[in-house]
Amino acid sequence: MSDHAPLALRPELSALTPYNSGLTQEEVAARPGVTKIAKLGSNENPYGAAPGVTTAVAKAASQLHLYPDPSGHDLCVAVASLAGVTPDQVVLGDGSEDLLNVLARALLQPGDRVITLYPSFPLHEDYALMMGAAVERIDLTPEGEIDLPALLAAVARPARLILLSNPMNPAGLWLDPAALDQLMAAQHPETLLCIDEAYVEYTDPARYVSALERMAEHDKPLLGFCRKLRLMSG
Ligand SMILES: Cc1ncc(COP(=O)(O)O)c(C=O)c1O
Repeated sequence: MSDHAPLALRPELSALTPYNSGLTQEEVAARPGVTKIAKLGSNENPYGAAPGVTTAVAKAASQLHLYPDPSGHDLCVAVASLAGVTPDQVVLGDGSEDLLNVLARALLQPGDRVITLYPSFPLHEDYALMMGAAVERIDLTPEGEIDLPALLAAVARPARLILLSNPMNPAGLWLDPAALDQLMAAQHPETLLCIDEAYVEYTDPARYVSALERMAEHDKPLLGFCRKLRLMSG
């Protein structure tokens, strides 16, 4: 037994449950009776990486002993041109989990109000809780739909952050263009709206619009995690 006092970790950590990232392909294959696997839960690419990605990674392997450009200048410029924004509007990270973590650490203080749709990606809540924020869930209606009136009422009052997946994972629901516009109109001007579009390929393009397309006409704080961009930065 050590004589030292226990490490003073953030008290918020003890209330968090470990993140469950689901089963690996090997764990699923080991289950009795499994012959064919369609692994959709983690939104991985069943066709493998694009050839250009494999080539670029192989090329980068010869530079592993060097720091890369810490500002990611060339990538920011490329992403900005793809997204129709300026390079200073682009933030790079090691995937969106990293960016969600950075966002929580940069923005949130104990007691801050964070609004999210539930059920959704657990890390949206976990990083906010880790910073001591008060997470307010907007549950689905008894019919299993997004409770838009409840969401609009909640976001009309000041909060530090509205953080939601559109489409929602794992609910498989999304705010259609009209609902997204209503959300953006109702958003309190002091609140940052962050929309995580990780699962955008699961939507019906006829009934879905990316927040990125609404950015130009939106004058309140908005941050988007767009799959198209994640693919480029990943
Ligand atoms: C809604 C949502 N956002 C982000 C992520 C994590 O994405 P990344 O692989 O870019 O860290 C997930 C992973 O399941 C997710 O469901």
